[in-house]
Amino acid sequence: MFSALFRTKSVEQSIRDTTEPEHALKKSLSALDLTVFGVGVIIGTGIFVLTGQVAKENAGPATAIAFAVAGIVCALAALCYAEFASTVPVAGSAYTFSYASLGELPAWIIGWDLVLEFALGTAVVAVGWSGYIRSLMDNAGWHLPDALAGPDVAEGFGFDILAFALVLVLTGILVLGMKLSARVTQVVVAIKVTVVLIVIIAGAFFIQSANYSPFIPKAEQIPAGGGLHAPLVQLMFGYAPTNFGVMGIFTAASVVFFAFIGFDIVATAAEETRNPQRDMPRGILGSLLICTVLYVLVSIVVTGMQHYSRLSVDAPLADAFKETGHPFFAGIISFGAAVGLTTVCMILLLGQTRVFFAMSRDGLLPRFFSRVHPKYKTPHRPTILLGALIAILAGFTSLSELAELVNIGTLFAFVVVALSVIILRRTRPDLHRAFRTPWVPVVPILSVAASLWLMLNLPAETWLRFAIWMALGFAVYFVYGRTHSELVKRRK
Ligand code: ALA
Repeated sequence: MFSALFRTKSVEQSIRDTTEPEHALKKSLSALDLTVFGVGVIIGTGIFVLTGQVAKENAGPATAIAFAVAGIVCALAALCYAEFASTVPVAGSAYTFSYASLGELPAWIIGWDLVLEFALGTAVVAVGWSGYIRSLMDNAGWHLPDALAGPDVAEGFGFDILAFALVLVLTGILVLGMKLSARVTQVVVAIKVTVVLIVIIAGAFFIQSANYSPFIPKAEQIPAGGGLHAPLVQLMFGYAPTNFGVMGIFTAASVVFFAFIGFDIVATAAEETRNPQRDMPRGILGSLLICTVLYVLVSIVVTGMQHYSRLSVDAPLADAFKETGHPFFAGIISFGAAVGLTTVCMILLLGQTRVFFAMSRDGLLPRFFSRVHPKYKTPHRPTILLGALIAILAGFTSLSELAELVNIGTLFAFVVVALSVIILRRTRPDLHRAFRTPWVPVVPILSVAASLWLMLNLPAETWLRFAIWMALGFAVYFVYGRTHSELVKRRK
């Protein structure tokens, strides 16, 4: 029984499965498509919304350092992801990688964890998008009733009709096919990057150097109470919880980490890539590098335009321009943010359906979900099912705590992927690796340590929620997946 939990699916089998015609996805993406895909999902709520909150509450102008820290954590993870994606080029990201190396139970755990990351991530971004749309509508003098503006706005019952509608429309686009989605993505990504560049270039003219002092504000104790709210690391070591200071930078990094989520999704499209061996690492590392540079520059500019204590929490980038007397730029930025968040939402949703698809193809979830559409060649069943569920979730959800839950899930996936690189090098040294992580095992070990460190800087209550979700996953595996696994059938 014990060995069954760690049965592995061979890499050759994983690749063979993708060629069964009924369960095969179309191979149409290039390195450029992947990079655009990456940037399309990476730049989103993190930079457009969380920057202000984190600068105001945790790190001040040193938010730029927090972005750099989170970027380094992701770069380490990306080096590991790239090796796996170029060795095991099939749908399913970290799930598939760990099935080939760590075994079925760890693979299930990671798949379940990715469902959390992508599904909740989609909902979080849809809610952020709806906020920007409402703000644009307000400018035009149209006001939605509070009850349809979502739980953050309404008192009593609130349903976020815009977030709900967005997820449903995107679900439709994904069912129609990858190619269409990639084309829409390219246009939207261009708009989003242009807006970010406007913030950096135009904003640079309005910087006042006085706003940078102090660059790292002194640590301030936060009032007692809310114990579970404090970062786990501070509770573990018995610190009185503080904001700002050096520890504040790490707290900020563990939150703005959300801004980087998505580069790992590039890996989930491996099976739809024409030449995954060469293009995957380029796509992943390229999109990550572009975004890290942009984030650091944006946060330096924004905290230079307005004193961190006065930054807005809802729309910090646009509002900094309003404050300095440039509402025209503010309007453009709001528009770009609203457009840009659309792709983020769409690609998160795509990553989610692909993981679900891979898990169902392996029999850990019902096989019903892994039949691709006869005409569009997309996994339409999980796309529709999950799209509908996420739309409802987005309608009833508020932002911030969910974002932290998404972060812990993703960081956990990074830990597993990094460990898998080390294990697969030992168990399958013979495999062709188009991209090899440098300095194994040093880089994977550093990646594990860095990801764990950010996890420890998340609130204790986030850990608790994460534990509950994972316990549920164990229950599903032992009740269904363990006995329905395709590996079991093959071995009979
Ligand atoms: N990285 C994406 C964002 O910031 C998920 O919204």
